[in-house]
Amino acid sequence: MTDLTSLEAQLTAAVTGAIDLAALDAVRVAALGKTGSISNLLKSLGAMSPDERKTAGPAINGLRDKIQGLIAERKAVLEGQALEGKLAAERLDLTLPAPPRRKGQVHPTMQAFDELICIFAELGFAVAEGPDIEDDFHNFTALNFPPKHPARDMHDTFFLQEGPDGTRKVLRTHTSPVQVRTMMSQSPPIRIVAPGRTYRKDSDQTHTPMFHQIEGLVIDRDTHMGHLKWTLETVLARYFETDAVTTRFRPHHFPFTEPSAEMDVGCDRSGGGLKIGQGSDWLEILGCGMVHPNVLRNCGLDPDEWQGFAFGFGVDRLAMLKYGVPDLRDMFAADTRWLQHYGFSAFAAPNPASGLS
Ligand code: PHE
Repeated sequence: MTDLTSLEAQLTAAVTGAIDLAALDAVRVAALGKTGSISNLLKSLGAMSPDERKTAGPAINGLRDKIQGLIAERKAVLEGQALEGKLAAERLDLTLPAPPRRKGQVHPTMQAFDELICIFAELGFAVAEGPDIEDDFHNFTALNFPPKHPARDMHDTFFLQEGPDGTRKVLRTHTSPVQVRTMMSQSPPIRIVAPGRTYRKDSDQTHTPMFHQIEGLVIDRDTHMGHLKWTLETVLARYFETDAVTTRFRPHHFPFTEPSAEMDVGCDRSGGGLKIGQGSDWLEILGCGMVHPNVLRNCGLDPDEWQGFAFGFGVDRLAMLKYGVPDLRDMFAADTRWLQHYGFSAFAAPNPASGLS
């Protein structure tokens, strides 16, 4: 019995003194493992006389239960400590400033989109969207392009393969189909801008097969060209962050607007550079006009009741103009060094409160 008492004292000390889970497990194996001290005592019961066994049995089993209980208790404590330690080591202080290393950069085109959307939002325009893969109806027919008319070729369209119904979808050649989608799904008054990708079979220094436009559409009861001109001049002045933007309308033709115009901004090309808001040169930047009555009718609106204007900017070009990018193709070359130079911090997204850029 003294043996048991000293073994109990020794094992109790070992269990409470185990500093981690591995040490505790070693104590468990030494006591309760196959050849552990308590296991050996239990095995010795078989060789005892029935009388001896009567007292030794409960004593040894009692010791085993006690030590097992102590081990379980100690294990819970050590596991708690291990978790605390892990949580402390993995603690992340979210109030620390982000490291200054800027890995991702916002592309100038996306920056220009954000700026334009921000400016239009202040004027009460909502953002509308449509799919990049369009059908003939939304991209052409509803926009008053006559069937088989060469105006459809004017856009150097990418056609997709013929579908089961014999029609061919297109990669939208402009964002104007979003006008149609909006007029068919909302009732006027309407005031939207539609930013997005557009596609044409064209590639040189000033054209890429994919480029970006932002479309604008306003439908109301007494809308006229004056509203159009004021809107565009206001937006351009805000975008170029100058009061001195001069603009002019040039007559043009689009099937979906009547009258149609292109707008130029005044600029200065002397000295090799290009400056907006000064000088005596002109640069074409957008197409626009009053929404054609046929388009209104195609979208279920009565032209005697509703009029509106629409416009479409080339956004890559606006970004190049504002941020001094010389070649359009570089915009889509996916060169990270270029982006490091021309890109913007994602932490400084344009907003009306803190400014545009
Ligand atoms: N969709 C025309 C283009 O891509 C631009 C435009 C939009 C013209 C809206 C008039 C009205 O060239």
